[in-house]
Amino acid sequence: MIQRSSPIGLGVIGVGMASMTAHLPAVAAGDRFELVALLDRDRDMLAAAVARFGEVPAHTDLGAFLATPGLDAVVVATPPDSHLDLALACIDRGLHTLVEKPMARSVAECGRLVERAKAQRVVLAVGHEKRFHPTMARLAQLLADGQIGQPFYCGVHWAASVKLDPANLVPAGYERGYRWRWEDPSVGGGIVQDHLPHYLDLLRHWTGSEPEGVYARTMNVARDRLGWSAEASQWEDFGLCVVRFGGGLLLRLETGVVGRSISPIWSLGSGSGEWTEYGYLLGTRGQIVFDLLPWDSSENGRLAVWRLDAATRDQIGWSYVEQPEPSRRAGPPSGASLAMFQGQLAAFADAIEGAPSAIARGRDGTVAVALVEAAYESSATGREVEIPASLGVSS
Ligand SMILES: NC(=O)c1ccc[n+]([C@@H]2O[C@H](COP(=O)([O-])OP(=O)(O)OC[C@H]3O[C@@H](n4cnc5c(N)ncnc54)[C@H](O)[C@@H]3O)[C@@H](O)[C@H]2O)c1
Repeated sequence: MIQRSSPIGLGVIGVGMASMTAHLPAVAAGDRFELVALLDRDRDMLAAAVARFGEVPAHTDLGAFLATPGLDAVVVATPPDSHLDLALACIDRGLHTLVEKPMARSVAECGRLVERAKAQRVVLAVGHEKRFHPTMARLAQLLADGQIGQPFYCGVHWAASVKLDPANLVPAGYERGYRWRWEDPSVGGGIVQDHLPHYLDLLRHWTGSEPEGVYARTMNVARDRLGWSAEASQWEDFGLCVVRFGGGLLLRLETGVVGRSISPIWSLGSGSGEWTEYGYLLGTRGQIVFDLLPWDSSENGRLAVWRLDAATRDQIGWSYVEQPEPSRRAGPPSGASLAMFQGQLAAFADAIEGAPSAIARGRDGTVAVALVEAAYESSATGREVEIPASLGVSS
């Protein structure tokens, strides 16, 4: 392990929603990285980032960005169609590279990134930051402690109503991110590509089980039921995925932007689009319910736990609810959201320095993208699609 006496020089590519609300605040709040350069093709976005995060060289030209003195590592936070080319350019320059999810648009693209990073001996990480969410880390601990026995089912609902009335429901400042997600034919997928990687990665991370197959159904509700044109609604906006893992564990992910449920514990939503995100794990000796708040909430998520070992005739109901009821607060991320991105950055720094790290690596990103590809194939064919066993081996 290399001990560093100075922070790692970090460049950030793409200063949109993910960078402005998560990566850059996390860099500013920690001391492992020093921001040395920014790159975006939009000068207004660069100006806004510099105004908020301080005077650093801000480029629209990739070559000039890569030539920044002291640049050791990068975060690539642009839409998925540019991940491959930008990350390859960084890796070829010998830079440790954290690519936002989905790592790329296809397994073939992921393979090129993994191979090149290996050849260049740099860290290739992927932004599966929920591993570091305090609530999810606590849940992982409860599972590891055997509190609910062997988990055999995880159900997740993660959705918003934003596409029912974008003029009113897309929050100010987030229009651009929603636009490419809905309208850009080159990004490679819709809400399944956006969200399946997160929960696939969590289940692998929590249980060590690998996905063996997926059955999925998707809908383009805006195009088929709300009267949007095919150009305005290129991709699915609702998806139901059932992922079968080794050992029999099942994940059901229900995700969309055309309507949502309400959390079983109680979520107040947020200013960034009124998302609801909750789920539950069923185990052989109990259950855990989790409820995550959106990024701009300052509150932690919540967990409710029911353990067979704690249940008696007098004590029925949930054993305990961890973390208090939330209160709505506007403003930039703090609390759990900031903590998860700080945790991810710290793990990226550990990986760069050769220390043990829980950061998701290129192989993890590849398995997630393989699942997305298989989910789309399943939706098109109406059949479960198997995942090649060779993809499931972590490295
Ligand atoms: N990990 C998470 O929880 C999470 C959350 C949100 C977004 N994301 C991911 O982050 C990425 C960015 O999403 P976003 O919502 O921030 O999008 P966004 O549209 O808000 O921001 C993207 C930025 O990248 C810039 N850009 C686009 N193409 C570029 C290129 N070729 N070169 C330089 N700059 C370019 C745009 O000008 C824009 O400023 C996506 O892959 C998305 O899936 C991840």
